[in-house]
Amino acid sequence: MERFRGGLEGVVVAETRLSEVDGARGRLLVRGRDVEALARSARFEDVYGLLLGGALPGAVGRARIAARLGAARAEAFARLPELGRALDTEHGMDALRAGLAHLEDAGDAETAHARIVGAAAVFAAAWARGRAGERPVPPDPTLPHAADYLRMATGAAPEAPRARALDAYLVTVAEHGMCASTFAARVVASTHSDRVSAIVAAVGALKGPLHGGAPGPVLDMLDAIGEPARAEAWLEGELAAGRRIMGLGHRVYRVRDPRAAVLEAAALRLEAAGVASRYLRLARAVERAALGVLARRHPERRLETNVEFYTAVVLDAAGLGRALFTPTFAAARSVGWLAHAEEQLAEGRIIRPEQRYVGPRLGGVAAGTPA
Ligand code: COA
Repeated sequence: MERFRGGLEGVVVAETRLSEVDGARGRLLVRGRDVEALARSARFEDVYGLLLGGALPGAVGRARIAARLGAARAEAFARLPELGRALDTEHGMDALRAGLAHLEDAGDAETAHARIVGAAAVFAAAWARGRAGERPVPPDPTLPHAADYLRMATGAAPEAPRARALDAYLVTVAEHGMCASTFAARVVASTHSDRVSAIVAAVGALKGPLHGGAPGPVLDMLDAIGEPARAEAWLEGELAAGRRIMGLGHRVYRVRDPRAAVLEAAALRLEAAGVASRYLRLARAVERAALGVLARRHPERRLETNVEFYTAVVLDAAGLGRALFTPTFAAARSVGWLAHAEEQLAEGRIIRPEQRYVGPRLGGVAAGTPA
């Protein structure tokens, strides 16, 4: 019998109008639009409208969404005292999971969406402040979501280029097909459970280093390497020790993840605007070395740069600490998760895959009877 590797590779579990990931050509369409074009011109409010409302909202719609999200952030901030010690955790994703679990699903979808997306940003930022021994910063509902998130997380009004870079990041990662966390959200929604439960399940899936947990470790890797000349030997050492190189490889992409290019460009734009990244030059050198090392180690499988590699560079340059990288990813992806949950609720049947039993068949032996 062929070795079972798991992973559901190639298995279609849903039909979607939300995004298309073309792994062979390195293309990502979000509701039919190239992610590169979206990241250049759209704000988080636009992609929120695109995914949850079905179309890019235009100026008036964008302002309405910004106001709705601003009010939701204020509502989430007012809830902080009700969360008890939920945000008092070492790992930001544990805090987010516990904090979001306190929400109740609103009756109507529009209210529920804003409540969950607003709360994800507020709880992530409040967790980061608490971890730094600081008091949470109340939201400014008049600001765009990205700028206010940065403000709440860092405690200072962000410079425009940093807020713009974070906005580009939030747009870039808001939706990405049937990844593990989205599948988790859809499985929960397929049982006709509530949206909050679907999002809490997705947060748990995103936490893992094989999925959304990689960008913090990418910076750890860059710190450990220190200078371009040491990259190759360090990377070889990691592979020899049986460890994976963070920010490289992808289940679907066989070429460079298009989001890596979008985020590399965002880091370059930040630099051009006078916000130099501590890591960009080193990251580019390490990427080149890693591609060479991985090609030699796995000539059978193209392993290319994924979204997490330059996520680390951009979020660091935007001013966020590395412990906040995955919670920030979750705050952006909550929009995609909700859009998938709605699709599943509207169209889907309960998701119930099969397994292959490989244990013994002991017939009618009663429990506790010695073999
Ligand atoms: N570093 C070293 N080896 C890697 C690797 C990496 N980043 N990514 C894959 N490989 C290896 C695998 O171990 C496997 O080797 P094996 O057959 O000897 O076990 C081989 O390459 C093929 O792996 P593949 O089937 O392409 O990986 P996958 O689809 O199971 O896993 C990831 C995809 C993303 C989980 C995997 O590439 C990975 O762990 N990357 C690092 C973590 C990361 O950046 N995550 C963020 C994803 S967006």
